[in-house]
Amino acid sequence: MEILEEIAQLKQERNAVILAHNYQIGEIQDLADFVGDSLYLSREAARTSARVLVFSGVRFMAETAKILSPEKTVLLPDLEAGCSLADSITAEQLREWKRQFPGAVVVSYVNTSAEVKAESDYCCTSANAVEIVRRIPEDRDVLFLPDMFLGEYVRNKTGRKNIHLWVGDCFVHARMRPENVTQARATHPGAELIAHPECGCTSEVLSEVDQVLSTDGMLRYAETTHSPEVLVATEVGILHRMRKENPQTRFVPLSAEAVCPFMKRNTLEKLRDSLRYLQYPIELDPAIIPRARVPIERMIAG
Ligand code: 13P
Ligand code: SF4
Repeated sequence: MEILEEIAQLKQERNAVILAHNYQIGEIQDLADFVGDSLYLSREAARTSARVLVFSGVRFMAETAKILSPEKTVLLPDLEAGCSLADSITAEQLREWKRQFPGAVVVSYVNTSAEVKAESDYCCTSANAVEIVRRIPEDRDVLFLPDMFLGEYVRNKTGRKNIHLWVGDCFVHARMRPENVTQARATHPGAELIAHPECGCTSEVLSEVDQVLSTDGMLRYAETTHSPEVLVATEVGILHRMRKENPQTRFVPLSAEAVCPFMKRNTLEKLRDSLRYLQYPIELDPAIIPRARVPIERMIAG
């Protein structure tokens, strides 16, 4: 039997849904039940009635789904699909940081471990970080973690001086520097430029960027732009749907090397085996789950 048929059959047998992030390979995006950014996938994971959720993405995304639906089986097809940004802060480091700023409000990017979420007041994604920080009273210190470029962007947008940043970054996005923007502008005159807020170029050359958006925000933008050419500063997996859904526009990656090795650990074969052998189930400390759910629910309720 062909692999796509095998996956479809196993999915039915298991009463499973496949959730895929926008950075997955095209074949996985095409067969998934839900494809989107971290916020959309968290919302769908909370809503679905399926018994088994296969997360074709990275570990923190599957953990978020498990936190929201602990009674369900949440599978990650490859246990090595982590996220170096999420690994840049531990719960102990966060506890120590909180001791230095008593009374501060902790806003954690969804790219964090369940233990770090359990120490946080709010979660956010690239789609809603500015809006979440605006909900916090002006006089309260904010500890924003772990992505300093997203944090810097939030600082710029809100004009708040009392946002303290954890010095973490995503190496895939941080590598995109202002020089890449200058060079791309010269070789693609007239093209629009859209960028993910994790990019190392957004804070320094913010005025050069037409829009700073989450991955779903970029896909929505791609549908509405009248520009014949758009430079896209994020992981290259996003180009699959952008090009497929908008053949009239030319989408050019700001860096063709922006490939996340963690996201790309997922393959069709691993997805099939995940459904076949129910591997690898996400297990979390039951004491952590209710505490980690609070900041996520605050986020998805907004
Ligand atoms: P989005 O939530 O914008 O999809 O970003 C997730 C991510 O991991 C970016 O590197
Ligand atoms: Fe983590 Fe960066 Fe990969 Fe996103 S692109 S999953 S932040 S390493």
